[in-house]
Amino acid sequence: MNPVLASTTSAPLIRPEVAALPRYDPGADTDEVAALSGSRRVIKLSNSETPYAVSPAVAAAVRLAAEAGFARYPDPSGKRLTEAIGTSSGVPAGRVVLGNGSENLLELLCRAVLDPGDLVVTQAPGFSLHEIFPRVMGARVAKVPVTAEFGCDVAAWRDALAAGPKLVFLANPCNPTGAVLTGEELAAVVAEVPKSALLVLDEAYGEFARPDPAYPDGLEALRGLDRPWIVLRTFSKAYGLAGLRVGYGIASDADLVQALDRVRTPYNVNRPAQDAALAALGDHAHLADTVRRTRLEIARVTERLRGAGLRVVPSSTNFLFIDTGQPSDRVARDLHRAAIIVKAWREPGYETYIRASLSTPEDNDVFVRCLTEICAKGNQ
Ligand SMILES: Cc1ncc(COP(=O)(O)O)c(C=O)c1O
Repeated sequence: MNPVLASTTSAPLIRPEVAALPRYDPGADTDEVAALSGSRRVIKLSNSETPYAVSPAVAAAVRLAAEAGFARYPDPSGKRLTEAIGTSSGVPAGRVVLGNGSENLLELLCRAVLDPGDLVVTQAPGFSLHEIFPRVMGARVAKVPVTAEFGCDVAAWRDALAAGPKLVFLANPCNPTGAVLTGEELAAVVAEVPKSALLVLDEAYGEFARPDPAYPDGLEALRGLDRPWIVLRTFSKAYGLAGLRVGYGIASDADLVQALDRVRTPYNVNRPAQDAALAALGDHAHLADTVRRTRLEIARVTERLRGAGLRVVPSSTNFLFIDTGQPSDRVARDLHRAAIIVKAWREPGYETYIRASLSTPEDNDVFVRCLTEICAKGNQ
């Protein structure tokens, strides 16, 4: 090793909160799995992406943006997109904020609101960034467990919220379980959020759940609430634009949007992303088709896996949370050898679970075959 490099370390400069953080786990690297499996076609089911082509309107918008060139900065206010989101959601554009993915908004909310030592309440199992971003700010994170049937434990939420959090992250549907809170459950939890706290309702997978009669529209549920809230949504999942990075928040009031504007990098959403999101928002038929196809596959694959004796949590999203009955790291490694990437879950109590986002019917069939073989062998 180069001796100059070896003797240099920035470790003492790093804040202790940051040094102690777990790393975000994006799942295994596609090239590495290709090399390990000897297959050039890797089936990637690790990041809750959609397998379908984008709307033709989106493709045209990105082409046009490319033709216009990239020498100019994007509109820092995202005016056209925030206005379109405001119109389609029935809120003034001043209550809409854009993010470089909705994860950017999770981070900005923590930066705008949290002081060291503040309490944040979220759910376990849950989305790791609901914990990582608060901890970057030196906040404490309390996690509310789900019920044994992966439902919302309203009593446990009540207890956790009584401890006086400053920020509450509630995902509906939940990642990684795919389960939804019903309207009654959401109302019961919301009623316990202290007036001095900000409620963040993360609806990253909401479009997939909307056809469920039990799934409450977050905006409807929170409209008129007498305390601050924000609903987060994204173009990454049902709209299929994960690679462009654009998400948005609809806030209870313009003051919150202005605070986020102060802490964000001014040009956080690039121009092709803004144009693509605008086009995607207008193509209702494409969204409906993606949701329909996804829900069909979720139902079909759930049934097949259950038929093979596996426990699968009922999902209203584009992924499944599956109990493999054996260490999930081992199952994930065996799947890598078959050129399939899923996420091995590592949160305490769920170390035998994997999360697999579904793909095309053909790829899903390969996944079901390989997973059931691996599980049958492991349980012999
Ligand atoms: C619950 C939840 N919220 C937010 C996000 C962030 O998505 P994005 O930054 O792509 O909008 C994700 C991504 O997987 C998620 O699962």
